[in-house]
Amino acid sequence: MKRRVLITRENLPGSGADRLSGVAEVVAWPGNGKPGPADLAPLASGVSGVLALGNDPVDGALMDAAGPSLRVISLASMGYDNADRAAAAERGIVVTHTPGVLAETTADLTFALILAARRRIGGAEASLASGSWGLFRMHDYLGLDIHGATLGLIGYGQIGRAVARRAHGFGMRVLHHDPHAPDDALSASVNLATLLAESDIVSLHVPLTAETRHLISARELAAMKPTATLVSTSRGGVVDEEALLHAVREGRLHSAGLDVFEREPMGTELSPLVAEPHVVTLPHIGSATEATRAAMVDLAADNILDVLAGRPARTPLPGTPAVQSIPAGSTGVHA
Ligand code: DGY
Repeated sequence: MKRRVLITRENLPGSGADRLSGVAEVVAWPGNGKPGPADLAPLASGVSGVLALGNDPVDGALMDAAGPSLRVISLASMGYDNADRAAAAERGIVVTHTPGVLAETTADLTFALILAARRRIGGAEASLASGSWGLFRMHDYLGLDIHGATLGLIGYGQIGRAVARRAHGFGMRVLHHDPHAPDDALSASVNLATLLAESDIVSLHVPLTAETRHLISARELAAMKPTATLVSTSRGGVVDEEALLHAVREGRLHSAGLDVFEREPMGTELSPLVAEPHVVTLPHIGSATEATRAAMVDLAADNILDVLAGRPARTPLPGTPAVQSIPAGSTGVHA
């Protein structure tokens, strides 16, 4: 019998879905928007692989709906907080993500947020569009410089380093806080307190985990300069949005640039941060270029193809096996 693979969306970019169709029957969730667990479970029965996007819920119930045939869950995203890693480990399922292919694109967008927030680009554009640009005045549309500023990167992996490279082009001083990354030619490693106190821009590049949830809360915001900008292209849950809102409204922080939110997608129920004049908000587009989105799906498909062919996955989640493990109590027989 031909193997089956579940993809959580139709019409993905790249060649990945077609290549999967060459070795398996591909079932794609046909709905629009974000599928819930109840949408995916009925399609999952008997699948050997699941290709999911970064926000899709991939939990133990979905794995159980798939049954013992499930060998690999492949996330077309760098972030992996949507997948229950413990549930996958218990069942011996390989879980993969897509590092490597989106760091440069996400770093580009990080800089777009830095520029937009510190130079107040959105407000200036809206002012022009509304017909309010009547005179050149020295005090209008003032922002803060990026060149010469200190950039603090929390998390110094592929994306953090790509941001650091760009920062050098802007003549910035770069600091980072990451227990796994010592000083290098681009950036000095410092503790969190030093980074928060000295940075003009703090940019977040950590995955969302139990340790990083609300890493930036009222205390950390209070430790930042009142002239500082907070930027996040990682995951919404890393920032306590309530605390950020208060800090910006009370003028304790110059500005923020956010591509990610605690509740995504927002639909018409907008976060109050969206209406804040000193907060630039985007709908999670860090990796959204044609080439990068295709590369993410292609790598996600390659990971499934590898595992189904008995090869190690190319990009398993950090600290997890690249080949299927046999869960305790199993016969070791997998479809
Ligand atoms: C990622 O790759 O993690 C992006 O945020 C898209 O989910």
